[in-house]
Amino acid sequence: MTEIKGAAALKTKIANKEATVVVIGQGYVGLPLAMELVEAGFKCIGIDTNQSRVDQLNRAESYIFDISDEQLKNAIDRGLYSATTKYEVVKDADIVSICVPTPLRKTRDPDISYIQASSTSMAPFLSGPVLVILESTTYPGTTEEVLVPLLETGNCKLDVDLFVAFSPERVDPGNAKYGLKNTPKVVGGVSEQSTELITAFYTEVVDLVHPVRSSREAELVKLLENTFRAVNIALVNEMAMMCDRMNIDIWNVIEAAASKPFGYMPFYPGPGIGGHCIPLDPSYLSWKAKSFGFYNRFIELATDVNGNMPQFVTQKLVRVLNTHKKSLNGAKVLLLGVAYKSNINDLRESPALDIWQILTKEWGADLSYHDPYIDRIPSFDASSKALTADLVSSADIVIITTNHKGVDYDLVVEHASLILDTRNTLPDNIENVVRL
Ligand SMILES: NC(=O)c1ccc[n+]([C@@H]2O[C@H](COP(=O)([O-])OP(=O)(O)OC[C@H]3O[C@@H](n4cnc5c(N)ncnc54)[C@H](O)[C@@H]3O)[C@@H](O)[C@H]2O)c1
Repeated sequence: MTEIKGAAALKTKIANKEATVVVIGQGYVGLPLAMELVEAGFKCIGIDTNQSRVDQLNRAESYIFDISDEQLKNAIDRGLYSATTKYEVVKDADIVSICVPTPLRKTRDPDISYIQASSTSMAPFLSGPVLVILESTTYPGTTEEVLVPLLETGNCKLDVDLFVAFSPERVDPGNAKYGLKNTPKVVGGVSEQSTELITAFYTEVVDLVHPVRSSREAELVKLLENTFRAVNIALVNEMAMMCDRMNIDIWNVIEAAASKPFGYMPFYPGPGIGGHCIPLDPSYLSWKAKSFGFYNRFIELATDVNGNMPQFVTQKLVRVLNTHKKSLNGAKVLLLGVAYKSNINDLRESPALDIWQILTKEWGADLSYHDPYIDRIPSFDASSKALTADLVSSADIVIITTNHKGVDYDLVVEHASLILDTRNTLPDNIENVVRL
């Protein structure tokens, strides 16, 4: 197949690092991506509809844990990064990357309205040849069926001067070992030329690019990865509930099973799953599969098991208090760690929020929390309290919901009357400590 002119011109610009990249959505995914593109030598403009975020970014104030103010300032000072709310900048873009949210509606159906809104806003400004990349997690078919028709309402036509591809964002916030650069980047275009272009682009940015045959395959890769995690976490959560009944320590069992050097990969139980990915992504897949008359029973089961862990933690709390002749109604409960996982400042979908809600609304408990990464929980109008001997000793029970590094657990053990450890933070031989 002879290469068409538009794609050839774009490839040359990419190879010479002369391509300007616009990244739409400057959140947990979009901002680190923009910084990595700057590191690779590309000029990058971030678009976000949130004016205060844009102002903050232009003042070189990062709100993303993995990006420092210095890194942001350096990118701005070198003239390689700026942020704006104005879609007009798409006129100058050779590549556009979409990193907007893809939440679920209350009915757990996919909400792709942010993808639609950003595509509609950019379409009139697209000026070919241009490569548009969707990075937001979504169901197979979105790039081809939703994105392309919306983009083609502008002046560009697919495979003439418009190329469209999907590449899943695989970032693991707070992971010091694997970032965007050294995590292989899966890419798949809606056409052969689109796949070639996105491969050429990301080859300039990351260590390893893994092209697949279509955007649908690339979309499914992300959902397979996160469904794998959701199902395996559900399996150990179910094992933990069974072990609770059988009076066996699940943590010791997992540690021993993990000593097998092949055929086993440890997953750990906990108070529930959180974040923007694992609790949501599998539902994107099962929703789409249903339109093919296919029902993903593993996904439904995992959603059910993981979603009920906060209730299980509550029941265990009631039993622990009961053995000490205490009632949960009116009890002072201190949550240690409310972020959805350790060492990050992300509260989204955190199981600690469900536990808080259940304990206060259903059981009449008196809640407070300490989290060095989360100053406030706006939805409960609560602020993190300083971790003092007084705070710990005044609680009837402490629940370790998230085990951040740097928390003084010795102080907690010394002063707490009871501890429910849902994360295997403390050794199993301490009096008054009950593990999940
Ligand atoms: N956070 C993660 O760890 C992670 C990991 C992998 C994939 N993802 C996926 O990446 C996508 C983005 O997630 P995130 O965590 O970065 O979300 P986020 O909420 O942190 O950031 C999204 C940003 O997009 C902006 N925005 C919304 N609508 C817009 C529009 N029409 N135009 C311009 N900006 C708009 C918002 O103001 C916000 O700043 C989602 O699909 C998510 O599932 C997230």
